[in-house]
Amino acid sequence: MAAGTGKTGAGENRTIPRHVAVIMDGNGRWAKKRGLPRTAGHAAGSENFRKIATYCKNIGMDYLTVYAFSTENWKRPPEEVGTIMRLLRRYLNEAVETMERDRIRMKVFGNVEALPEELRLLVAKTDEISSRYQGFQANICLNYGGRDEIVSAARRYARDLAAGVAPAELTEDLFSGYLYSAGIPDPELIIRTGGEQRISNFLLWQCAYSEFYYTDTYWPDFGPEELDRAIEAFNARDRRFGGIK
Ligand code: IPE
Ligand code: IPE
Ligand code: MG
Repeated sequence: MAAGTGKTGAGENRTIPRHVAVIMDGNGRWAKKRGLPRTAGHAAGSENFRKIATYCKNIGMDYLTVYAFSTENWKRPPEEVGTIMRLLRRYLNEAVETMERDRIRMKVFGNVEALPEELRLLVAKTDEISSRYQGFQANICLNYGGRDEIVSAARRYARDLAAGVAPAELTEDLFSGYLYSAGIPDPELIIRTGGEQRISNFLLWQCAYSEFYYTDTYWPDFGPEELDRAIEAFNARDRRFGGIK
């Protein structure tokens, strides 16, 4: 899959992955370290997402997919869930106002049906705006789980089967078309901030050949310089896809 080429600050060539995905972890610990409530960490994390998305667009990336709220995150205390939903609502409201001007398309991956109505309407609105132009796209995983995504894809495929589609026609490519990420190349690079080295139910299908980059930096502190370091590490990887050199 062709990756875009961007330039480093030094002018030396590097490959910018077409699609980078980020598990934005560590908001709570970032706040705790500063003696602040966890919710302050989520606010700072949301601010950092704006900054990183703009940077990704400016260096010529095509897609940035971020994990904002998982299907498992409902286990958190209702006050924390409420704060995260409020921040997401605020973010999407602002996006509706600014995304066309900033040329940022946006898509929400996840079970949107289960979200509060106001959020559902905002998602529909950002979809509508995004459909009007081309260019950099941010995907926000919201009420997202990799297993849930695969099961809901299977459910939709089963409906097509019942309508007469032949099972023998199913291929990996065709199945990918039932996922939230339909039509989007798999992420070449997946970054996890906050020190944990696990996938936490993120992009289980799409990560088949992704390169992983872990950092102890908490998400609100993960700036463009560190993203550059992750891209540099990606450039140094030897991707074989099961073949040999
Ligand atoms: C990531 O930060 C944001 C969400 C999961 C919503 P956390 O809230 O998980 O922060 P830590 O891992 O507790 O520090
Ligand atoms: C993963 O972080 C989910 C998001 C970043 C939205 P978690 O903090 O929920 O992951 P675990 O619980 O450490 O696996
Ligand atoms: Mg966490």
